[in-house]
Amino acid sequence: MSVRRLAPREVQPENFAFTDENLDWAQKTIAKYPAGRQASAVIPLLMRAQEQAGGWVSEPAMRYVGDMLGMAPIRVYEIATFYTQFQLNPVGKKAHIQVCGTTPCMLRGAGELMDVCKHRIHEEQFHLSENGDFSWEEVECAGTCVNAPMIQVWKDVYEDLTPADLERILDAFERGEKPDAGPQIARHSSEPVTGLRVLTSPELFDGSMVGQGAGLALAREAIAARANAEATPAAPPPAAAAAAPPPPPKSDPAPAAPPPAKAVEAAGNADSEKPAKPVAPPPGGEKKAD
Ligand code: FES
Repeated sequence: MSVRRLAPREVQPENFAFTDENLDWAQKTIAKYPAGRQASAVIPLLMRAQEQAGGWVSEPAMRYVGDMLGMAPIRVYEIATFYTQFQLNPVGKKAHIQVCGTTPCMLRGAGELMDVCKHRIHEEQFHLSENGDFSWEEVECAGTCVNAPMIQVWKDVYEDLTPADLERILDAFERGEKPDAGPQIARHSSEPVTGLRVLTSPELFDGSMVGQGAGLALAREAIAARANAEATPAAPPPAAAAAAPPPPPKSDPAPAAPPPAKAVEAAGNADSEKPAKPVAPPPGGEKKAD
């Protein structure tokens, strides 16, 4: 994690204001929150300010957003400097590459991705490439660890990367294209690279089971059917017999009497229903010895 400071004064613009379109959007966004809670809109407004300014949020932009929301500037600085989604310095015009450097990504080759960034962009993070098109930084976990290693560019993530993949992605941005985001290998999301092994029944996903309460039962059925198909028993037992619990052995003795706890409970109930006998005091108030 790097130290996050506002850009030096000489880099900061004189002022900032939303375009008419963004101002309209900001006012509608603020109106979504209850009276007195407008400050909750700070993150979306900062993000929109960053997009308008070409990928970074300046100190005048933070003040502008704070004024709109009735927040002290320091409250906005705190938020902008905390989240690595906000850039505090100018970034590459075509792409700012955020390379995850947390453990799972490092174990899966994030170091090699950073080597590509050093080679293609700049030896040090937070510096622009010579033509100003690219910049890069190392960030903490971006939440796609299963598909490590990964990078984030603007709002998109690129996962399951090799150094060659990153070179190809940079080439695409260089040409002004937007490469396809997501896993860069043949998987759709974060399912196992060997393919789905569970929840493969199409009925689970085509909507036909909505409200039926049978999704889990179907999944179990599909798993059991596949397991049966993969097994090669000499004489497969009938499905019904396999599913039914085995009958108890004939030699098992049937319980001869109710469990003691039940018997005690029954006796107790019977006692409580008998009328109470009057108890005569012993003669002379003393108990005779037998
Ligand atoms: S460790 Fe890299 S995305 Fe989580």
